[in-house]
Amino acid sequence: MSTAPDEPAGGWDALRAEAVAASAHAYAPYSRYRVGAAALVDDGRVVSGCNVENAAYGVALCAECGLVSQLHRTGGGRLTHFTCVDGQEQLIMPCGRCRQLLWENGGPDLLLLTRSGVRRMDEVLPDAFGADDLA
Ligand code: THU
Repeated sequence: MSTAPDEPAGGWDALRAEAVAASAHAYAPYSRYRVGAAALVDDGRVVSGCNVENAAYGVALCAECGLVSQLHRTGGGRLTHFTCVDGQEQLIMPCGRCRQLLWENGGPDLLLLTRSGVRRMDEVLPDAFGADDLA
């Protein structure tokens, strides 16, 4: 079975299922808003994360933070495809801070599955600040 150019190997449904599975591990006793995120890495690995909240509310870790941590802990690489869901398994957009995390680790070509279809990273974070600005 071949996949469309903007599809991750295995398909978007499989990546979304990984995000749903991650959301089951969310620790969200304060907001009660569970999030799961999953991404394909350019070497074929899949990494994922869930949100982890804290009694000091501002310390909460978004699901994308765990995902990026797993990316580096398991060998690094570049994110190529990403999606995230809420506790109802519905697609959500990454928050602004997490778009910056995704930009750092996937760049402008990273593809995101969203409610409005597949979007490029440079569509959802236009005119981004990044490593090139520090060169
Ligand atoms: N959250 C994420 O995990 N990722 C996002 O991109 C949006 C927000 C979490 C943080 C907090 O635990 C909860 O959702 C409500 O904001």
